[in-house]
Amino acid sequence: LQRAYKKRQKLSQYNTIDDAAKLLRTKKNIMVITGAGISTSLGIPDFRSQGTGFYDKVRALGYGGGEDVFQIEEFDRDPSIFYSLAGDILPDLKRFSPTHAFLKLLQTKNRLQTNYTQNIDNLEELAGIDKSRLIQCHGSFATASCRKCKNQVPGRVIFDDIRAKRVAKCKRCIQVMSKQPSARPPLKKRKPKSTVLRKNDWEDSSDDDNGTAYDLPQPGIMKPDITFFGEKLPDTFFDRFMDEDRHAVDLVIVIGTSLKVAPVSEMCNHLPAEVPHIYISREPIEHVNFDIQLLGESDHVVFELCKRTGWGLRHEMLPEGL
Ligand code: APR
Repeated sequence: LQRAYKKRQKLSQYNTIDDAAKLLRTKKNIMVITGAGISTSLGIPDFRSQGTGFYDKVRALGYGGGEDVFQIEEFDRDPSIFYSLAGDILPDLKRFSPTHAFLKLLQTKNRLQTNYTQNIDNLEELAGIDKSRLIQCHGSFATASCRKCKNQVPGRVIFDDIRAKRVAKCKRCIQVMSKQPSARPPLKKRKPKSTVLRKNDWEDSSDDDNGTAYDLPQPGIMKPDITFFGEKLPDTFFDRFMDEDRHAVDLVIVIGTSLKVAPVSEMCNHLPAEVPHIYISREPIEHVNFDIQLLGESDHVVFELCKRTGWGLRHEMLPEGL
């Protein structure tokens, strides 16, 4: 994705939601690029919306630039910052949005080439998107790994820690350490104050006579397998997009993302110019030339779009309040 950023020229014949409905009916290889905006109706904040975005909240708590929370160096320096904030974006795994249901409808109609999601809430899986149709560009909370021994566990193993704002330590590291001869010198027995040894009559000799503490080995810290700034995207992203999808795609729909973070933000500029592009979001976007921009709540827009496409709508697609 290193090629120069080139502005794609708009195709003039597509402009309206009815044009978009016609494209949905006729195109078979639809690439859908999604962002945090498709989960906000579930109460999961997006990142950059003024006032409600996660980064505004992080800045209000005095953490400087919001993105610092997701810098891998920052996490390794002090994981407690991430653990104190991540509860806000931890998925509510019990329901998905009508926009997720729209992705599932495309898949059911055999029109979904691939959903490239930047979201880490893993709700695409809950909505029934097949793993073969899904690329989680920024990883997800589905699993978590130890920063030290790389041990991988299901993400839900650390959800309680995240919700309790408690840094999760690697249980395998702890287990291995418990089996090793302790780095500490053997505990010295303090002269018993009484003939009966009680639990706390043994002194901790990790501080030797001149009081220096031993540098004891520490267990690794668990990190959700989400892609932090400074980390590589999964290889599947590049392989699938560069080697397969971009040669076969015949319609691109971008939903609920500000397209501010590379390399996802550059994908549209590496697609054939003749492929129609549709953008669905609350706010318009200037740095990519979309043929059609449908502005509003994504749940409502996709609902209306499917109505005009003449597709029978499943109840999950009904937006709140409609
Ligand atoms: N309906 C339609 N659009 C919405 C809705 C909604 N209900 N809610 C929010 N939006 C729009 C916002 O107006 C904004 O344009 O979705 C977009 C969300 O943009 P961001 O908050 O920047 O989120 P996203 O684009 O997914 O961020 C990309 O940045 O920090 C990194 O790793 C993080 O994956 C994330 C990446």
